[in-house]
Amino acid sequence: MALVDTKKMFQMAYKNGYAVGAFNVNNMEITQGIISAIAEEKAPLILQISRGAREYASMSYLRAIIDVAVEENPDIPIAMHLDHGDNFETCKQCVDDGFTSVMIDGSHHSFEENIKVTKQVVEYAHAHNVVVEAELGQLGGIEEDVVGVDDVAAHLTDPNQAVEFIERTGVDSLAVAIGTSHGAYKFKTEPKLAFDVIEKIQKLMPGFPLVMHGSSSVLKEFKDLINKYGGKMPDAMGVPEEAITRAAKMAICKVNIDTDLRMALTAKIRQVFAEKPGEFDPRKYLGPAREAIKAMVKHKLHVLNCAGRAAECL
Ligand code: G3H
Ligand code: 13P
Ligand code: ZN
Repeated sequence: MALVDTKKMFQMAYKNGYAVGAFNVNNMEITQGIISAIAEEKAPLILQISRGAREYASMSYLRAIIDVAVEENPDIPIAMHLDHGDNFETCKQCVDDGFTSVMIDGSHHSFEENIKVTKQVVEYAHAHNVVVEAELGQLGGIEEDVVGVDDVAAHLTDPNQAVEFIERTGVDSLAVAIGTSHGAYKFKTEPKLAFDVIEKIQKLMPGFPLVMHGSSSVLKEFKDLINKYGGKMPDAMGVPEEAITRAAKMAICKVNIDTDLRMALTAKIRQVFAEKPGEFDPRKYLGPAREAIKAMVKHKLHVLNCAGRAAECL
């Protein structure tokens, strides 16, 4: 079976109270780790590729790896998505390269400019049967000690603006700012998410799929290994898994995870190097790293509640 877009996945995820995991891929081992977890858990999958990944691995290599994954797993719906496309040209290139979903991230623009560029991408992508994710609001933690309540509100997605944005652009899904941020240092104090933003959009636009970026949990297991074996990430903190499960039961249909993959890989490689300082066969440290990714992704699929949902998304 060929790559699919995310329409059916999001319909099913919305209806049945789960979210599809969108995992960032940069090389073969990361992709294989994710795929073997998905194949065992029978979950729908979004493989996402950032501009940095395209530059690092080159699209032709990534595409070839993904093609093998798709061919070997005909019972699993797999979408290939551009993560954080920054302008029309990048999105157009990815549509032309065979992506089934693209993100145009115009969140750094004014509201009107964001609408303009998103609309341009939607017109081109839809003409080629490709779906589009956009972003409104700015990612960042909600820490009342650090930022005043007014400032926080200014960065979160405004539900009324979201409705206007969706209607004027014709976009297929929307990434919302609800207090998460990218990377391993999301919160300095107790993690807090603005579930009310999701609720309000859900009420105003029932059935419309929302996306949660910056959704890694910074798992203790990997943080501890990294810190034990020479790394220095003592203050790393992610989104609690209960919060992810709660969001997945609401209108959040896609949950983006990259940092947790990076930390699993890094933790295992550090462990091998520390325990076997003479090791220099890449298979001996990339192999365990790939296994750690697989185990971590399997666990995530249950957090997202999407294990066993592959068939209904085909
Ligand atoms: O949203 C960011 C993702 O973690 C991708 O990161 O641009 O370094 O590949 P990257
Ligand atoms: P994390 O850094 O929390 O993994 O978020 C990744 C992401 O949002 C990619 O778009
Ligand atoms: Zn993101």
